[in-house]
Amino acid sequence: MQTLKLGIIGAGFVAKFHARAIAQVRNIQIAGITSRPREGAEALAKLVRKHGLGESVVYSNIAEMANHVDAVAIFAPNFARIEIVEEIVHAVQRGANLKGIICEKPLARNMPEARRMIELVDSVSLKTAYFENQVFMKPIRAQLAQLAPQQKIMGSLLLTRSSEEHGGPHAAWFWDPTRQGGGVLSDMGCHSIAVGWYTLTPPDKPPMFLEPVSVSADCALLKWGLPQWRTQLLEKFGVDYTKTPAEDFTTGIITYRNPESGQRVKAQFTNSWMFDKQGLRLFMDGMGPGYAFEINSLNSPLQIFIGDIAAEAAANSELALEKATASRGLLSVQPNEADLYGYPDEIEDAVAAFDAGTDALLSWRYGLEITKLVMAAYLSAERQQTIDLTDPGNQKELETYVPLIQQGKGREVLYVK
Ligand SMILES: NC(=O)c1ccc[n+]([C@@H]2O[C@H](COP(=O)([O-])OP(=O)(O)OC[C@H]3O[C@@H](n4cnc5c(N)ncnc54)[C@H](O)[C@@H]3O)[C@@H](O)[C@H]2O)c1
Repeated sequence: MQTLKLGIIGAGFVAKFHARAIAQVRNIQIAGITSRPREGAEALAKLVRKHGLGESVVYSNIAEMANHVDAVAIFAPNFARIEIVEEIVHAVQRGANLKGIICEKPLARNMPEARRMIELVDSVSLKTAYFENQVFMKPIRAQLAQLAPQQKIMGSLLLTRSSEEHGGPHAAWFWDPTRQGGGVLSDMGCHSIAVGWYTLTPPDKPPMFLEPVSVSADCALLKWGLPQWRTQLLEKFGVDYTKTPAEDFTTGIITYRNPESGQRVKAQFTNSWMFDKQGLRLFMDGMGPGYAFEINSLNSPLQIFIGDIAAEAAANSELALEKATASRGLLSVQPNEADLYGYPDEIEDAVAAFDAGTDALLSWRYGLEITKLVMAAYLSAERQQTIDLTDPGNQKELETYVPLIQQGKGREVLYVK
């Protein structure tokens, strides 16, 4: 297999996480980085070179970088997706020889944007990878392998529950529903919906095998709508939740149908930005007839204790865990978070797929289906009704639907005192 020269677009939080993951993957190097503003790219490039992960030349724009790399990865904010893909496609039309294109979750903020993303890559026949790391988590894959005989003999999993929660995002644009696409449902619901769908899918079937039948969801603004907390948001990030609120809690249930057996199965999701505990927690469990699994990312083999007297020495609590909220007491430490969350595995999959000239396991078309499920969840919460996805009228409506929260009209559906 040839070494894939990757060009990274965006040099923030997730780009750094991917650099840590790439250190654990063979046949890939970070050949180029471009970002707006450029300073972030210079800092990341330094880190990449220090760890011997690639040449990481800093380019001033995408067009320039596209001529020197084999594939590009979009690690920039959600609101910049379309203009970035337009630039990439333009570069390919002018002769850049790209094998593939990667996009971090979510693919888009709504269906018109998702359709435009697909239309653009299809116009130049680019192979795609939609980065949903949780589908690649080793604990998820290990339970599937371990329970394969049970799935075969007793029958498939019937119910999964997936959640991702932390205390709130690190950058202002995530909090702004118009730029990000909504609140926690758009940001993290896409993870839990994807991993729930994948977990229920019989192990020998492709990721879109189970047919989504209906979605029922609820969204609420709980903690970050309280006066003292929304003042904090305004002061720290310049986002005013009295004017343009977003949900900090969501939960819902999606029903799927096995097209071969007709069996119906259910995936519940819960996400919040108000998890005032140790840091990021991923929780997944599943029930089959006569068997079950459970995953909790806060259960680490490593715990450390830092007493008050020694706490001043702890410079960076996030060294222990993503979104960690404490730097003293009994701390749960994940020594290899990138691996725990599935980043090296999703990168490996994309490298192998692009080398073979195919889409990754999760293509952008799959990302589009996740966007549709997220939109159906917003529609359900707005209407306080279950959305029947077998109804052609609902399918048509979802194609143009933009949630009120995303439009900046969250006051109409979220309670703000
Ligand atoms: N898989 C995961 O668990 C996970 C975790 C975090 C973020 N993400 C996703 O990754 C993406 C980036 O998130 P982040 O946390 O790194 O955000 P961030 O704000 O930390 O970093 C974004 C980077 O993009 C740059 N940028 C902004 N506009 C740009 C543009 N038009 N062109 C090029 N670069 C631009 C910024 O300067 C910054 O370097 C988001 O879509 C987010 O949903 C995924």
